[in-house]
Amino acid sequence: MKDVEIILNVNGRNYPVRIPPWRTLVEVLRENLGLVGTKKSCNEGECGACTVHLDGRPVASCLVLAVDAQGKEVVTIEGISEGENLHPIQEAFLKSGAIQCGFCTPGMVMSAKGLLDENPEPTLSDARRAISGNLCRCTGYQHIINAILTVPKGRKDQRSEVRDQRSENGERAEGRKR
Ligand code: FES
Ligand code: FES
Repeated sequence: MKDVEIILNVNGRNYPVRIPPWRTLVEVLRENLGLVGTKKSCNEGECGACTVHLDGRPVASCLVLAVDAQGKEVVTIEGISEGENLHPIQEAFLKSGAIQCGFCTPGMVMSAKGLLDENPEPTLSDARRAISGNLCRCTGYQHIINAILTVPKGRKDQRSEVRDQRSENGERAEGRKR
């Protein structure tokens, strides 16, 4: 079968690639685009190491043909930090000791992000369900769950701080008027 030319939108940038039509998304991300944060392990949808977001939802990129990702937004682990600033979920993983060898971590973080984007205040069982398709051979999962459950609290605190700051500023402005 002949190679095909496609354009993939990854982390907000368009990448033209020429590939065999059977090439999977994880292969193209790693081998054509050099985005090796996404890991490839079982290659059959069992381990979650290759999890990326496709149009905002976590998917196993070893089960997606790259040609089928055309016209969709792909986000990889490289796309969630801002420069040198880690994403709050990555920070939470670090703080909670949820990383050992780190091989599962990008997939875990992307699965956690899928959950937290939809539900910023998940329960313990929500968090367990969200990473049920991701295998970790090192941590025993509890630290990962703890990390996921600390992220919403941090986000809520940030929002509260902004709210508190706004109301404080409002009160000061009121005081000046009086
Ligand atoms: S490499 Fe895709 S699920 Fe394991
Ligand atoms: S930290 Fe090693 S596999 Fe999860």
